[in-house]
Amino acid sequence: MKVTIMKIVVIGGSGLIGSKLVTKLREQGREAIAASPKSGVNTFTGEGLAEALKGASVVVDVTNSPSWEDAAVLKFFETSTRNQLTYEAAAGVGHHVALSVVGTERLLASGFFRAKMAQENLIKASSIPYTIIRATQFFEFVKGIADFSTEGNKVRLPTALIQPMAADDVASAVGRIAAGAPVNGIVEIGGPEKFRLDELGQQYLAANKDSREVVADPKARYYGVDISERTLLPGDDAQLGKTRFKTWLNQSAAKAAAGTH
Ligand SMILES: NC(=O)c1ccc[n+]([C@@H]2O[C@H](COP(=O)([O-])OP(=O)(O)OC[C@H]3O[C@@H](n4cnc5c(N)ncnc54)[C@H](OP(=O)(O)O)[C@@H]3O)[C@@H](O)[C@H]2O)c1
Repeated sequence: MKVTIMKIVVIGGSGLIGSKLVTKLREQGREAIAASPKSGVNTFTGEGLAEALKGASVVVDVTNSPSWEDAAVLKFFETSTRNQLTYEAAAGVGHHVALSVVGTERLLASGFFRAKMAQENLIKASSIPYTIIRATQFFEFVKGIADFSTEGNKVRLPTALIQPMAADDVASAVGRIAAGAPVNGIVEIGGPEKFRLDELGQQYLAANKDSREVVADPKARYYGVDISERTLLPGDDAQLGKTRFKTWLNQSAAKAAAGTH
C-alpha cells in the first residue's frame, strides 16, 4: 500500500489509546510522534509543543486530564486545547483530530463532560480544519464504571443501554480518520453490540471471578448523572468496531494468564 508521508503528532501518545494509535500508524508506514509530559511535551503549560509540532500535518489529541475534579478537568481541557490550537496555527497544521465521547451534550450534569464540551467548542471555533471523533465507552473502562458504582459488595448499575468498544478498535478508527481529510464536524464510533449496563457489568465481573453482586436499578446514576435508555448510544451513522465484548474478555483473560497485558 502506498501512503503519503505526513507527520502525525499524537498528543497523549503514551496513554491507552495514544500508544495503540502510534503503533498502528507506524505499522502503516506513517511518521507518528508520541508527545506527552513523559516525552517533554506538555499541552497544559505549552512546554515542548512548538518543537514537537514542527513540520506536522496532523495533530491528534488523545490526552486525558490527570484530575477529574470539576474545576481542574475544565481548566485542563480548555488550556490544553487552546495551547494546541495556537501552536498548530503557527506551525501550519492542517488537521486537528480530537477524541471525545458519544452523548457529551446529554451528560452535562457531569463536570467531566462539561470539560469535553468546552474542548469541542474551542475546536469548532478555531481556524484549524478539524475532526471531532466521539467514541462510546471503551471495554477497558467497564471496570471503572463498576468500581465507581460499588458500595460494599454491591455494584448498583442503571439498566440503560450502552454500546461499548475495544480500545484497539478506537485506535484503528482514529488512525483511519486522522489520515483522511478533515470533516469539520463530528464522527461517531461505537461497538458492534448493545448491552444493558447492569448486564455488561455482570459479564465483566463474572469473567474476572469478581465476587461483587450487580444490582440492576433503573434509577441508578451513570457517573453521578441521570441517564435514560438511549443517552449513551451513538446515532445510526456511527462507524462500528468489530471486536465483541466476549472475545475481548477471553483475550484479556488469556493475556492475564500469560502474564502480559
Ligand atoms: N474511557 C472511555 O471509555 C472513553 C470513551 C470515549 C472517549 N474517551 C476519551 O479518550 C481520551 C483518551 O483516553 P485514554 O483512556 O487513552 O487516556 P489515558 O490512558 O488516561 O492517557 C492520557 C494521556 O494524556 C496525557 N497527558 C496528561 N496530561 C498531559 C499534558 N499536560 N500534556 C500532554 N499530554 C498529557 C498522558 O501523558 P503522560 O503519560 O505523559 O502523563 C497520557 O498520554 C480522553 O480524552 C477521553 O475523554 C474515553
